[in-house]
Amino acid sequence: MESITLALAKGRTSEKSIALLQNAGFHFDDFHDQTRKLVFYDTEQQIKLISVKALDVPTYVENGAADVGIVGKDNILESQSSVYELLDLKFGKCKLVVAGLTEQKLNTKTKLTVASKYPSVAKIHFESKGIPIETIKLNGSVELAPLIGMADFIVDIVETGRTLRENGLSVIEEIEDVSTRLIVNKASFATKSALLEPFISKIKNALE
Ligand code: PRP
Repeated sequence: MESITLALAKGRTSEKSIALLQNAGFHFDDFHDQTRKLVFYDTEQQIKLISVKALDVPTYVENGAADVGIVGKDNILESQSSVYELLDLKFGKCKLVVAGLTEQKLNTKTKLTVASKYPSVAKIHFESKGIPIETIKLNGSVELAPLIGMADFIVDIVETGRTLRENGLSVIEEIEDVSTRLIVNKASFATKSALLEPFISKIKNALE
């Protein structure tokens, strides 16, 4: 039987994604947040769920390794993948921001160095303002970079603001609101519509 392959972002939103799928009628009994398993099937074998790094979800969906993906808007923007973004799932809400030392202002006279898990987002944002930057790609603890003089600013997600506060940093500019989205492979959207349309409408109903 043909099934839908769904790429799910590992990490902070995975439990909420599974809860949403459950509300939509898709049950993954052996999924839990500590598991090392990477492939799961729902009890009715309609969905093959693959658990992947958040930034890789749009890549899996773009090249058709997965038909659909559940991932944050931050990772969709960073990957610059060509996929359909169909639904805002309204959880995992945070903001992409430029942050820096509290007293620091954006100084456009010199080339700025910006550290980020999102170097493409950072580059596009600063270039849209006509500010050339050097980016430093980090994979975590990004807040450290301005504190040790490694970068002038960071581009990162902020949820509660606690990490910035506890490190003496503050938001300089907001870039974009982020939440978890349902994305779809462009070819699958056409060729697997008989499977995808009911799936998407069940997710939509579960959101309401
Ligand atoms: C994210 C982000 C910030 C923090 C923001 O990091 O990169 O560091 O959360 O959350 P807050 O505003 O609620 O403090 P994450 O927890 O994913 O850890 P990491 O630094 O290892 O990437």
